[in-house]
Amino acid sequence: MAIETALERFPKKITTNGGLTATCRPLKPGDHAAFHEFFTALPAEELLHIKHRVTDHDVVKQWCEHIDLGHNLPLVALDGAKIVGVCTLHQNLGGWKRHIGRISSHAHPQYRGKGLGYKLVEQVIDIARQCGLQRLEAEFMGHQTQAMKLCAHLGFAELYRLEDYVKDMQAIEHDYVVMGLELITDEEYAGMG
Ligand SMILES: CC(C)(COP(=O)(O)OP(=O)(O)OC[C@H]1O[C@@H](n2cnc3c(N)ncnc32)[C@H](O)[C@@H]1OP(=O)(O)O)[C@@H](O)C(=O)NCCC(=O)NCCS
Repeated sequence: MAIETALERFPKKITTNGGLTATCRPLKPGDHAAFHEFFTALPAEELLHIKHRVTDHDVVKQWCEHIDLGHNLPLVALDGAKIVGVCTLHQNLGGWKRHIGRISSHAHPQYRGKGLGYKLVEQVIDIARQCGLQRLEAEFMGHQTQAMKLCAHLGFAELYRLEDYVKDMQAIEHDYVVMGLELITDEEYAGMG
Protein backbone atom coordinates (compact mmCIF):
# COMPACT_ATOMS: atom_id res chain seq x y z
CA MET A 1 0.00 0.00 0.00
CA ALA A 2 1.23 3.51 -0.82
CA ILE A 3 2.03 5.76 2.12
CA GLU A 4 -0.74 8.18 1.03
CA THR A 5 -3.31 5.42 1.63
CA ALA A 6 -1.79 4.53 5.00
CA LEU A 7 -2.07 8.20 6.01
CA GLU A 8 -5.72 8.65 5.01
CA ARG A 9 -6.91 8.15 8.60
CA PHE A 10 -4.92 11.17 9.82
CA PRO A 11 -5.37 13.63 11.48
CA LYS A 12 -6.56 11.38 14.25
CA LYS A 13 -7.35 11.88 17.96
CA ILE A 14 -5.34 9.68 20.28
CA THR A 15 -5.88 9.06 23.98
CA THR A 16 -3.00 7.64 25.96
CA ASN A 17 -3.18 5.26 28.90
CA GLY A 18 -2.10 8.25 31.05
CA GLY A 19 -5.26 10.15 30.06
CA LEU A 20 -3.64 12.54 27.60
CA THR A 21 -5.59 13.45 24.46
CA ALA A 22 -3.71 14.72 21.42
CA THR A 23 -4.11 15.05 17.67
CA CYS A 24 -1.79 12.94 15.63
CA ARG A 25 -0.84 13.73 12.01
CA PRO A 26 2.13 13.95 9.64
CA LEU A 27 4.31 17.07 9.87
CA LYS A 28 3.24 19.94 7.55
CA PRO A 29 5.34 22.76 5.99
CA GLY A 30 3.59 25.34 8.22
CA ASP A 31 4.71 23.52 11.38
CA HIS A 32 8.27 24.92 11.36
CA ALA A 33 7.81 27.35 14.28
CA ALA A 34 5.99 24.81 16.48
CA PHE A 35 8.49 22.07 15.58
CA HIS A 36 11.44 24.34 16.38
CA GLU A 37 9.84 25.26 19.71
CA PHE A 38 9.42 21.56 20.46
CA PHE A 39 13.13 20.89 19.94
CA THR A 40 14.20 23.88 22.03
CA ALA A 41 12.24 22.37 24.95
CA LEU A 42 14.42 19.21 24.92
CA PRO A 43 17.14 19.00 27.58
CA ALA A 44 20.64 19.95 26.39
CA GLU A 45 22.00 16.43 27.00
CA GLU A 46 19.36 14.96 24.68
CA LEU A 47 20.12 17.50 21.96
CA LEU A 48 23.67 16.15 21.98
CA HIS A 49 22.31 12.86 20.62
CA ILE A 50 20.36 14.33 17.71
CA LYS A 51 22.27 14.20 14.46
CA HIS A 52 21.04 17.61 13.21
CA ARG A 53 21.19 21.13 14.70
CA VAL A 54 17.49 21.18 15.54
CA THR A 55 17.70 24.28 17.75
CA ASP A 56 18.57 26.26 14.63
CA HIS A 57 15.25 27.53 13.26
CA ASP A 58 16.59 27.56 9.68
CA VAL A 59 17.48 23.85 9.89
CA VAL A 60 13.93 22.99 11.02
CA LYS A 61 12.40 25.33 8.42
CA GLN A 62 14.44 23.62 5.67
CA TRP A 63 13.11 20.24 6.85
CA CYS A 64 9.54 21.49 6.83
CA GLU A 65 9.93 22.94 3.34
CA HIS A 66 11.27 19.65 1.96
CA ILE A 67 9.00 17.09 3.53
CA ASP A 68 9.11 13.77 1.66
CA LEU A 69 6.77 11.52 3.66
CA GLY A 70 7.71 8.41 1.65
CA HIS A 71 11.31 8.86 2.77
CA ASN A 72 10.94 10.44 6.22
CA LEU A 73 7.55 10.54 7.86
CA PRO A 74 7.50 12.60 11.06
CA LEU A 75 4.21 11.77 12.80
CA VAL A 76 3.60 14.55 15.30
CA ALA A 77 1.26 14.75 18.30
CA LEU A 78 -0.32 18.13 19.01
CA ASP A 79 -1.90 19.50 22.17
CA GLY A 80 -3.82 22.38 20.57
CA ALA A 81 -1.24 24.13 18.38
CA LYS A 82 1.74 22.84 20.41
CA ILE A 83 3.81 19.91 19.12
CA VAL A 84 4.30 17.61 22.11
CA GLY A 85 5.79 14.50 20.51
CA VAL A 86 7.13 13.03 17.29
CA CYS A 87 7.92 9.60 15.95
CA THR A 88 9.60 9.49 12.54
CA LEU A 89 9.52 6.58 10.11
CA HIS A 90 12.60 6.55 7.89
CA GLN A 91 12.49 4.43 4.73
CA ASN A 92 15.25 3.52 2.28
CA LEU A 93 12.99 3.20 -0.81
CA GLY A 94 15.39 0.91 -2.61
CA GLY A 95 18.50 -1.17 -2.11
CA TRP A 96 18.98 -4.15 0.12
CA LYS A 97 17.37 -2.50 3.16
CA ARG A 98 14.24 -1.41 1.26
CA HIS A 99 12.03 -3.71 3.38
CA ILE A 100 13.43 -2.32 6.65
CA GLY A 101 12.17 0.94 8.15
CA ARG A 102 13.80 2.83 11.02
CA ILE A 103 12.03 4.79 13.71
CA SER A 104 13.11 7.53 16.09
CA SER A 105 10.96 9.26 18.68
CA HIS A 106 10.93 12.16 21.12
CA ALA A 107 8.35 13.39 23.59
CA HIS A 108 8.16 16.90 25.07
CA PRO A 109 9.68 16.72 28.59
CA GLN A 110 6.45 18.00 30.18
CA TYR A 111 4.40 15.30 28.42
CA ARG A 112 6.49 12.24 29.29
CA GLY A 113 5.41 9.19 31.24
CA LYS A 114 1.80 9.56 30.06
CA GLY A 115 1.86 7.01 27.27
CA LEU A 116 2.42 9.52 24.44
CA GLY A 117 5.67 8.00 23.13
CA TYR A 118 4.06 4.57 23.21
CA LYS A 119 0.99 5.74 21.23
CA LEU A 120 3.11 7.51 18.59
CA VAL A 121 5.40 4.52 18.07
CA GLU A 122 2.35 2.24 17.92
CA GLN A 123 0.82 4.42 15.16
CA VAL A 124 4.07 4.39 13.18
CA ILE A 125 4.36 0.60 13.47
CA ASP A 126 0.87 0.38 12.01
CA ILE A 127 1.76 2.72 9.12
CA ALA A 128 4.96 0.75 8.43
CA ARG A 129 2.99 -2.48 8.29
CA GLN A 130 0.46 -0.95 5.90
CA CYS A 131 3.28 0.33 3.67
CA GLY A 132 4.49 -3.26 3.29
CA LEU A 133 7.66 -2.91 5.33
CA GLN A 134 8.74 -6.23 6.83
CA ARG A 135 10.99 -5.04 9.63
CA LEU A 136 11.56 -1.99 11.77
CA GLU A 137 14.76 -0.96 13.47
CA ALA A 138 15.46 1.59 16.18
CA GLU A 139 18.95 2.85 17.06
CA PHE A 140 20.00 3.90 20.55
CA MET A 141 22.93 4.95 22.63
CA GLY A 142 23.36 2.51 25.49
CA HIS A 143 21.98 4.83 28.19
CA GLN A 144 18.66 5.55 26.41
CA THR A 145 17.05 2.89 28.55
CA GLN A 146 13.59 4.53 28.77
CA ALA A 147 13.27 4.54 25.00
CA MET A 148 14.56 0.95 24.72
CA LYS A 149 12.04 -0.17 27.35
CA LEU A 150 9.24 1.50 25.43
CA CYS A 151 10.26 -0.31 22.23
CA ALA A 152 10.52 -3.61 24.12
CA HIS A 153 6.91 -3.11 25.33
CA LEU A 154 5.90 -2.87 21.67
CA GLY A 155 7.69 -6.09 20.68
CA PHE A 156 11.15 -4.86 19.66
CA ALA A 157 14.11 -7.00 20.72
CA GLU A 158 17.81 -6.15 20.86
CA LEU A 159 19.50 -7.18 17.58
CA TYR A 160 23.02 -6.18 18.55
CA ARG A 161 25.05 -3.98 20.89
CA LEU A 162 28.50 -2.62 20.08
CA GLU A 163 30.45 -1.42 23.09
CA ASP A 164 31.71 2.22 23.07
CA TYR A 165 31.03 2.35 19.34
CA VAL A 166 29.40 5.76 18.80
CA LYS A 167 30.24 9.28 19.95
CA ASP A 168 27.81 12.02 20.91
CA MET A 169 28.29 15.65 19.86
CA GLN A 170 30.79 16.10 22.74
CA ALA A 171 32.80 13.12 21.46
CA ILE A 172 31.85 10.97 24.46
CA GLU A 173 31.68 7.29 23.54
CA HIS A 174 28.53 5.26 24.09
CA ASP A 175 27.38 1.73 23.36
CA TYR A 176 25.45 1.47 20.08
CA VAL A 177 22.28 -0.59 20.36
CA VAL A 178 20.00 -1.64 17.51
CA MET A 179 16.58 -3.08 18.30
CA GLY A 180 14.36 -4.74 15.71
CA LEU A 181 10.74 -5.69 15.19
CA GLU A 182 9.43 -8.26 12.71
CA LEU A 183 6.29 -6.93 10.98
CA ILE A 184 5.21 -10.04 9.07
CA THR A 185 1.90 -11.24 10.49
CA ASP A 186 1.02 -14.81 11.51
CA GLU A 187 -1.38 -15.01 8.52
CA GLU A 188 1.45 -14.04 6.13
CA TYR A 189 3.69 -16.74 7.65
CA ALA A 190 0.85 -19.26 7.17
CA GLY A 191 0.58 -18.26 3.50
CA MET A 192 4.31 -18.77 2.89
CA GLY A 193 4.27 -22.56 3.34
C1 LIG B 1 11.56 7.71 24.78
C2 LIG B 1 10.43 8.70 24.95
C3 LIG B 1 9.97 9.14 23.55
C4 LIG B 1 9.27 8.03 25.69
O1 LIG B 1 8.15 8.89 25.68
P1 LIG B 1 7.07 8.90 26.86
O2 LIG B 1 5.84 9.53 26.32
O3 LIG B 1 7.64 9.46 28.09
O4 LIG B 1 6.84 7.32 27.12
P2 LIG B 1 5.48 6.64 27.55
O5 LIG B 1 4.82 7.45 28.60
O6 LIG B 1 4.68 6.32 26.35
O7 LIG B 1 5.96 5.28 28.18
C5 LIG B 1 6.03 5.14 29.59
C6 LIG B 1 5.78 3.70 30.01
O8 LIG B 1 4.40 3.27 29.86
C7 LIG B 1 4.31 2.20 28.92
N1 LIG B 1 3.06 2.38 28.16
C8 LIG B 1 2.60 3.58 27.76
N2 LIG B 1 1.41 3.42 27.12
C9 LIG B 1 1.15 2.08 27.13
C10 LIG B 1 0.07 1.29 26.63
N3 LIG B 1 -0.99 1.84 25.99
N4 LIG B 1 0.12 -0.04 26.79
C11 LIG B 1 1.15 -0.61 27.42
N5 LIG B 1 2.21 0.07 27.94
C12 LIG B 1 2.21 1.42 27.79
C13 LIG B 1 5.56 2.40 28.17
O9 LIG B 1 5.97 1.29 27.43
C14 LIG B 1 6.55 2.74 29.28
O10 LIG B 1 6.83 1.64 30.12
P3 LIG B 1 7.76 1.65 31.46
O11 LIG B 1 6.93 2.20 32.56
O12 LIG B 1 8.12 0.22 31.67
O13 LIG B 1 8.94 2.56 31.17
C15 LIG B 1 10.88 9.94 25.79
O14 LIG B 1 11.33 9.48 27.03
C16 LIG B 1 11.96 10.75 25.12
O15 LIG B 1 11.66 11.64 24.33
N6 LIG B 1 13.24 10.46 25.46
C17 LIG B 1 14.37 11.17 24.92
C18 LIG B 1 14.64 10.84 23.48
C19 LIG B 1 15.02 9.40 23.23
O16 LIG B 1 15.72 8.77 23.99
N7 LIG B 1 14.53 8.88 22.08
C20 LIG B 1 14.83 7.54 21.64
C21 LIG B 1 15.91 7.47 20.67
S1 LIG B 1 15.45 8.12 19.12
